[in-house]
Amino acid sequence: MGERGSGRAYEAWLSYSQRGGDVQIPNPYRQCFEHIVVAEETDIVHSAVEELKHAISGILGHMPTVTSVLDTPCAIVLGTTESLSKLGGWIQDEEAGKLTDEGYLMKTVETEGKLIIAGRSDRGVLYGTFHFIRRLCMNEDLSRLNMVENPANELRMINQWDNMDGSIERGYAGRSIFYDQNRFTADEQRIRDYARLLASTSINAIAINNVNVHERETKLITAEDLPDVARLAGIFRDYGIRLFLSINFASPIQLDGIDTADPLDPRVREWWKRRAAEIYAHIPDFGGFLVKADSEHRPGPFTYGRDHADGANMLAEALEPYGGLVIWRCFVYNCMQDWRDRSTDRAKAAFDHFQPLDGRFHSNVMLQVKNGPMDFQVREPVSPLFGALKKTNEVLELQITQEYTGQQRHLCYLIPQWKEVLAFDTYARWKGSTVDQIVSGKLFGRPHGGIAAVSNIGNDENWTGHLLAQANLFGFGRLAWDPRLSSEQITDEWVRMTFGEDTETRSIISCLLLQSWRTYEDYTAPLGVGWMVNPDHHYGPNVDGYEYSRWGTYHFADRDGIGVDRTVKTGTGYTAQYYEPNASMYESPESCPDELLLFFHHVPYTHPLKSGKTVIQHIYDTHFEGAEKAEQMISEWTKLKGKIDHDRFEHVLKRLIEQADHAKEWRDIINAYFYRKSGIPDRKGRTIYSF
Ligand code: GCU
Repeated sequence: MGERGSGRAYEAWLSYSQRGGDVQIPNPYRQCFEHIVVAEETDIVHSAVEELKHAISGILGHMPTVTSVLDTPCAIVLGTTESLSKLGGWIQDEEAGKLTDEGYLMKTVETEGKLIIAGRSDRGVLYGTFHFIRRLCMNEDLSRLNMVENPANELRMINQWDNMDGSIERGYAGRSIFYDQNRFTADEQRIRDYARLLASTSINAIAINNVNVHERETKLITAEDLPDVARLAGIFRDYGIRLFLSINFASPIQLDGIDTADPLDPRVREWWKRRAAEIYAHIPDFGGFLVKADSEHRPGPFTYGRDHADGANMLAEALEPYGGLVIWRCFVYNCMQDWRDRSTDRAKAAFDHFQPLDGRFHSNVMLQVKNGPMDFQVREPVSPLFGALKKTNEVLELQITQEYTGQQRHLCYLIPQWKEVLAFDTYARWKGSTVDQIVSGKLFGRPHGGIAAVSNIGNDENWTGHLLAQANLFGFGRLAWDPRLSSEQITDEWVRMTFGEDTETRSIISCLLLQSWRTYEDYTAPLGVGWMVNPDHHYGPNVDGYEYSRWGTYHFADRDGIGVDRTVKTGTGYTAQYYEPNASMYESPESCPDELLLFFHHVPYTHPLKSGKTVIQHIYDTHFEGAEKAEQMISEWTKLKGKIDHDRFEHVLKRLIEQADHAKEWRDIINAYFYRKSGIPDRKGRTIYSF
């Protein structure tokens, strides 16, 4: 491992040294940790062996020997199922048959004193090894290992929004680890360590540049940059991660002066084929393209009167001979929309653009859909596009970077939010047509599927700005592998891997994480209405601030009421994009869940919620309570003084103090705004500050 891996914050959840003997391994299995037997040597298996050595030496204080001598007694054995069944006879065909391509199994062979970690492929070996290390750190019983795991999703992807000048769009943890001053950085160790962190949670794909592809990044697909891109691809490859690039749809114009980027023009089609050939000459396992087109001023097929299927299929044809994928984003809407015009509703845009194209996309195209119809708000309904595309591969897009959820200055643990998204029943086929079933490809038998998320890392020593935001990165990977894991399980894993086994530490940090999303929601935008942030940078409260609402407010708050009427009966008709019974549930304010009421309905401030409170009283109460809860987080954390190291303790404390202060500002600005608008006082008579 690199020199840098000495700081605990930097090592993140792969920090094994100084665990203070909190990992106990009973005999006879303790002896197994003396030797690692490796059945075959590939680059990925090599990475797995290095990780295991690193973990064992950190936890147990000795470096195991590595050997290919299979009959070494008492050892941990790593290999593919094929080699292990041939060589040692340790795997039966029936067991191997249970694994899909990236799956793994672990078992003990008691008679020989061996612990076996076997993958169907070398990537499976790597994932199995990381899982084994997790179990070790969590003190699980290794004497009766017998498990088989397969990933739920084929694609488990990270999207970097890094620009080559070193900035990161919506990045809150320093600058890019990939680029600086329009060049690739030389710090390969940092990139390798990032690959390790990602692989440890099973991430297998990464797009290394921002979806907004500017002039400099447009060149990434040319001979000038491809050797550097190939170098990064090599680092990620060692950890089983395929590299993708975000591309500029107008590349033929910008790079070669062709007078069009029309996807049906033969010159343009030919141009992309030549580009693909050159990319694959440098990177034989190149993953493919990620595309943001016709969105927020990015070029796309609309300029030429073509649709998104025309655009995506042209690229798909170019990549198809090499097994490449086109990941085409559905974040397409008119950002110049006048919000007062009820005939256009941004929430409807993605569905309206893409649903009619179902069935027209090539099989190597995947449509990447944000979890909600808007833009990563603290609370939104699930996008109705999930399930609306039956003959198209879909990828769920989440945002780990906390653009609208506190920008890593606030603690906002997003796993519970993502769990709700994945478990949402679309009723697309039958009851139980959940989002996780759709994006994995299972529900409609699609050849490809998966989950992607916008990364939250930068070159800050602790990667994520807020140390506790590491949990969002970890949890994303774990959920992408297995969406059925509970928030509690994932949290427990991360806390124990990061902070060790002390019971009080575990319980305090887990509670802080698990309550933080609700708390953040409480003191920010209420009841699903969203936005209410300062323009452009999107940090801090500003009820009328959001930049794309320049022609009027998107929350429609006036003297009498608040919320957006998206019903079929009297509003924008958005509710009709859902299947029944969801459509009817959202259509009526009586059955619409409280937390989304203002997303779907315009109601008087005195409208009673299911909780029994009026909307206005709910706003006051949640804002007072949310700010109080933010304050309480400080006292909870303070209990850990002396239990965790000084640096990590002080760092988090400082952020929590800042959060509590900022939560008060949110409380006061939101409450004052709605008090002034409605003229209705707080029933509990608390002071509402006026601005
Ligand atoms: C949001 C975000 C942009 C980003 C865009 C996207 O609008 O504010 O910075 O480019 O999402 O997802 O493409």
